[in-house]
Amino acid sequence: MLNEKTNIALNKQIALEGNASAAYLAMAAWCERQGLKGCALFFYEQSAEERMHMMKIIHYINEMDGHAVIPEQEKPRADFDSIQELFQAVLLKEKEVTAAIYDLLSISKESDDHSTTLFLQWYVAEQREEEAQIRTILDVIKLIGSGGQSLYFIDQEVDKINKEKAKEESAEELEAENY
Ligand code: FEO
Repeated sequence: MLNEKTNIALNKQIALEGNASAAYLAMAAWCERQGLKGCALFFYEQSAEERMHMMKIIHYINEMDGHAVIPEQEKPRADFDSIQELFQAVLLKEKEVTAAIYDLLSISKESDDHSTTLFLQWYVAEQREEEAQIRTILDVIKLIGSGGQSLYFIDQEVDKINKEKAKEESAEELEAENY
């Protein structure tokens, strides 16, 4: 059974993950409008991942006999000045999510809630990976520079990340099948 404080904090996390999913969907649509197919695919996938993060928390709360609340969704930002500004906004969002996960961990540890502490470990690793990935993309943008032709190469680099991620995911699926 979850204590009330942890249940409330987990519900806040549901809202954060859901808002991240909507924000990335809006970013995907913006990228698609700019003809940045690689970046659009990256954010469509990212949006689906954030939804999965949200769903995992909903199922966890219910499994622990708590009460999962589905929140109202914030209207996501639909326009950006540049691809660099967009990815900087993503990094800020991910840092906010990481900070919230750390706060949740402090709450679960305070109340000796070992189950929630264990559950959150997956999110700690996920956040580390996500932040690192966005920093890598920001480094690439810095190296290539901004401007018309640069956008083409930035998009190609992001698409390489899409392909690496797809390869990793199918390897993980194969490993799970053979386990
Ligand atoms: Fe689930 Fe990227 O935060």
